[in-house]
Amino acid sequence: MLKQARIAVLVSGGGTNLQALIDAQGTVITSGKIELVVSNKPGAYALTRAANAGIPTAVVLGGEDFDRRLVDTLKNCDIDIVVLAGFMSILGETFINEYEGRIINVHPSLIPSFCGKGFYGLRVHKAALEYGVKVTGATVHYVNAIPDGGKIIMQKAVEVKDGDTPEVLQRRVMEEAEWVILPQACEYVCSDFCSKVCGDQSGEKD
Ligand code: GAR
Repeated sequence: MLKQARIAVLVSGGGTNLQALIDAQGTVITSGKIELVVSNKPGAYALTRAANAGIPTAVVLGGEDFDRRLVDTLKNCDIDIVVLAGFMSILGETFINEYEGRIINVHPSLIPSFCGKGFYGLRVHKAALEYGVKVTGATVHYVNAIPDGGKIIMQKAVEVKDGDTPEVLQRRVMEEAEWVILPQACEYVCSDFCSKVCGDQSGEKD
């Protein structure tokens, strides 16, 4: 077997997407393994989910040199692939340059709708309902310097129903789209990474 990519998941909140990734390990996700969960919020429930799954955790608080401290934390753990799963902070150049092409993010709309600066969490669903779209969904994309502007990896559409509140719509988008495509996209980038790098590193063949 080829070596698995070492994944870090960056979180800020409840961590349902992290849970979907944890649950997909060994089934959907076979080319990578979650080795570290990093939160910028000390009380995030996602940290408890990681601990319950036996995954090491770290808290990196915002402020001066945030990107550098984040890079150091990931480097200490030899991380190959970075998954943003409800991570509510925009990454700077230092971080993005270090992991270019190896960072992915899940966004709760069909990009290019309802995305970019200021569109995160429930705000996205509120904006979709206010606009009156009949279809929304989720997108997994590579992360570059433009918020929600990197190359799209996967998208899945979700129906908007009469009477939806932002909370109800958020839940449907998570269940029907985010929790499905995030593990699939994660496997895609890990397997791509392994085919280019892991085999060479380990010197093994499968
Ligand atoms: C998810 O809906 C995720 O797509 C969104 O925040 C929620 C986090 O939930 N992310 C963004 O809006 C990023 N722009 P979770 O902590 O339960 O995974």
